[in-house]
Amino acid sequence: PSQCHQVPESHRFDCYPERRVVVTRELCEGRGCCFIETSPAAGGKRGVPWCFYPPDFPSYALQSLNQTALGMAGLLVRREKAYYPRDIGVLRLDVELETDTRLHVKITDAANPRYEVPLDVPRAKKRAENPIYSLDFSKDPFGLLLRRRDTGTVLLNTTVAPLIFTDQFLQISTALPSRFLYGLGEHRSTLLHSLDWSTLTLWARDVSPTESFNLYGAHPFYLLLEEGGDAHGVFLLNSNAMEVALQPAPALTWRTIGGVLDFYIFLGPDPNAVIQQYQEVIGFPAMPPLWALGFHLCRWGYGSSNETWQTVRAMRNFQIPQDAQWNDIDYMDGYRDFTFDAQKFASLPSLVEDLHKHGQHYVMILDPGISSTSPRGSYWPFDEGLRRGLFINTTQGQPLIGQVWPGYTAFADFSNVDTRRWWLENLQRFHAHVPFDGVWIDMNEPSNFMDGSEEGCPPGELDSPPYTPAVLGDSLSAKTVCASAKQSASVHYNLHNLYGLMEAEATASALIQIRGKRPFVISRSTFPSQGRYSGHWLGDNRSQWKDMYYSIPGMLSFSLFGIPLVGADICGFSGSTSEELCTRWMQLGAFYPFSRNHNSQNEKAQDPTVFSPAARTAMKDMLLTRYSLLPFLYTLFHRAHVHGDTVARPLFFEFPQDTATYGLDRQFLWGRSLLVTPVLEPGVDSVMGYFPRGVWYDFYTGSSVNSSGEMLKLSAPLEHLNLHLREGSILPTQVSSHPPPPRAGDCPRGDTSCMARAPQYLKSQPLCRPQPSPPYFGLSKPYSAHVFEPQKPGPTSKASRGNPLRLIVALSPGATAWGDLFWDDGESLDTFERGSYSYLVFNATEVGHGGDGAWGPHNVPIWPPRAHVVPSCRTSSPPACSTPAPRPPPPPSAP
Ligand code: GLC
Repeated sequence: PSQCHQVPESHRFDCYPERRVVVTRELCEGRGCCFIETSPAAGGKRGVPWCFYPPDFPSYALQSLNQTALGMAGLLVRREKAYYPRDIGVLRLDVELETDTRLHVKITDAANPRYEVPLDVPRAKKRAENPIYSLDFSKDPFGLLLRRRDTGTVLLNTTVAPLIFTDQFLQISTALPSRFLYGLGEHRSTLLHSLDWSTLTLWARDVSPTESFNLYGAHPFYLLLEEGGDAHGVFLLNSNAMEVALQPAPALTWRTIGGVLDFYIFLGPDPNAVIQQYQEVIGFPAMPPLWALGFHLCRWGYGSSNETWQTVRAMRNFQIPQDAQWNDIDYMDGYRDFTFDAQKFASLPSLVEDLHKHGQHYVMILDPGISSTSPRGSYWPFDEGLRRGLFINTTQGQPLIGQVWPGYTAFADFSNVDTRRWWLENLQRFHAHVPFDGVWIDMNEPSNFMDGSEEGCPPGELDSPPYTPAVLGDSLSAKTVCASAKQSASVHYNLHNLYGLMEAEATASALIQIRGKRPFVISRSTFPSQGRYSGHWLGDNRSQWKDMYYSIPGMLSFSLFGIPLVGADICGFSGSTSEELCTRWMQLGAFYPFSRNHNSQNEKAQDPTVFSPAARTAMKDMLLTRYSLLPFLYTLFHRAHVHGDTVARPLFFEFPQDTATYGLDRQFLWGRSLLVTPVLEPGVDSVMGYFPRGVWYDFYTGSSVNSSGEMLKLSAPLEHLNLHLREGSILPTQVSSHPPPPRAGDCPRGDTSCMARAPQYLKSQPLCRPQPSPPYFGLSKPYSAHVFEPQKPGPTSKASRGNPLRLIVALSPGATAWGDLFWDDGESLDTFERGSYSYLVFNATEVGHGGDGAWGPHNVPIWPPRAHVVPSCRTSSPPACSTPAPRPPPPPSAP
């Protein structure tokens, strides 16, 4: 058609997304679409589609629209068939103005019920009174236009391409108001997505993270920054295999192969508010136990429990903080869940007992594939699961058999409540022998070493749908179970992306029943609302610098997804790490909300104890710094749990007006105030970091820079991680440990000054830290840190939580600052909900001028009740490690 040439390249919406087909003019025009060849894109990208929709391609028309209590309901009618089978002619449109900042738009089959994600979502009771958005509809073709009222920005405009709604192909496109798009996981990519014709596929998959592949989890949610710094978010509540095509118009197309189009739109207006509003729908993350925030050590390939134990002892010998020791599948007997190797892991129960004696915790792995080949009567988990019918079945109604670590396995069907009961019973039986504290749930995409099952998959439109999104392996059953497999709640085709979520829910609930304390679960596969039950690690990365970098956008994306307890395998999983890489990575990893060093089998050990004294000390130093910040980190998790705030946070969250922050993913914040600028390259002793406008204090020295929004070069010798505090913040901290005076091995070889500093160190900051060179940025502003004398050794969170609390106050130029502290016993269930906690807000204000005024009212008792935070900055002797002379202490105000 002649209109074809009028469509600018960036606005061409793909009419032939099929991957395995070479699209010809004939095929394209057979769909009624425009065919114009353009030069292929570089780098294997698909580039401008050659086959695209003409402006008048048939879509639905809005036939009726009526007001309802919560919004509107209408009917959409299609006159001409779409080109995929089982076109749905009449759709029902439901629009609910759920809150002033949240809109819910749902499009379903008007006549027949379809599969919907079994997620508990809030139901609005009345229509929003003052929505900050307005809605318009285009009648024919049907389209929805959503505007932000105050700026007039069009956030959604679905008239840009036809709506298609067939049984197994649902597609809707929208124009976007900017190119600043984030989210849509799980992928390995930069934090800010490229809109240069990229396609992101969401289908849970076990594969070592690689750019453009679909990975372990599915998060159909994006956050978009508008011109001017407002933000909104869009969540498509759909668990089917899907892809999201991005193009430079800017525009986006959702393509899913099942379910319904169920959208939530969150209007923010700032990024943090968007994420809060998103979590109001999917659920706020669980409050982790305090020990979850300590350092975790793991590897695949501990040959025995004694070898595991030796590592724990070595960590203790060097006084390196450690809260949890983990075991991978090595502990099992024949890699079968709920067993342990009676020879190699004979001392496992004693190891766990010893960990507990030292205030430490034990976590072991579980996989959902249950060995199906043990002699009958010898392996209760399978026998009983079979007897009760708890496994995923083939279309023929037999347990589907695939292959995982133990060999042939059946797969637990967690969508069945009876399976959850059986899972609990298994965990209880195992706990009676090995009193574990947390569970690591792996391989839960679910991963299968075979495609589909030992018999492949049957023919049919679930395993061979009319359209297959761009999944790795080109088939839904690639390295997982058949899509046609039967689960109690639906077919696997619908439930695949929910497998990890359902397993996490079952596991967290079992842990509560067994231990009566806050559960700790880390899951590989995730779906929206997962944060209520588990954290996540970013999977099988490699010991490479690039992988260390990717961990930052990975972690920050999971902050957007409402799973704040996230981290990557520190020092890298596969491949062999180097001392330099591992040192830098331990420093960065000390600032992952979930901090675990994990290694693959057959690789050299990479826990902190195996490195040179200098490296080991640098690693220990950073962990001590983390531990000293646990009260702050714990408070951030409380805020996540109660308000839906993020913990690890992209800079643009705090500076949405500053466009220079939009692409930053080599730095991040803890909360609103602690800026982490890691080194992500080999062989350097400096790092570039962006400092948004304002005063920033060097965490260690208190020296400051008043940035006008600049990229700055920071000194970064190998043992130094750059940390900066934002003006106006107060951080609650706690002395992390009181290591013994250094012994010869603790100091870098040849560093005699380290030994000489030993007595001084007892009153000061970490061991062997080089005195930072004089203030990096010249300018010195009010800063104060009250250092209390440490009381006792505490390389665990349990020990350090007994130490005095202190505040670090980083004043703004106007001499104000605030911060907060949430504190409870660290492990009981629902302490906030039951009111069994302390929550303190600290405000610092300078009264008078000259910099030495009194401080605001903050002589407040804290938990435990006898301790007091003394927020005056009176230090009898200046902290020995701080280079610039501390500001003279202001007199404490009368309480
Ligand atoms: C998977 C996990 C990895 C684990 C391994 C053996 O690859 O992602 O962390 O070590 O299985 O259980």
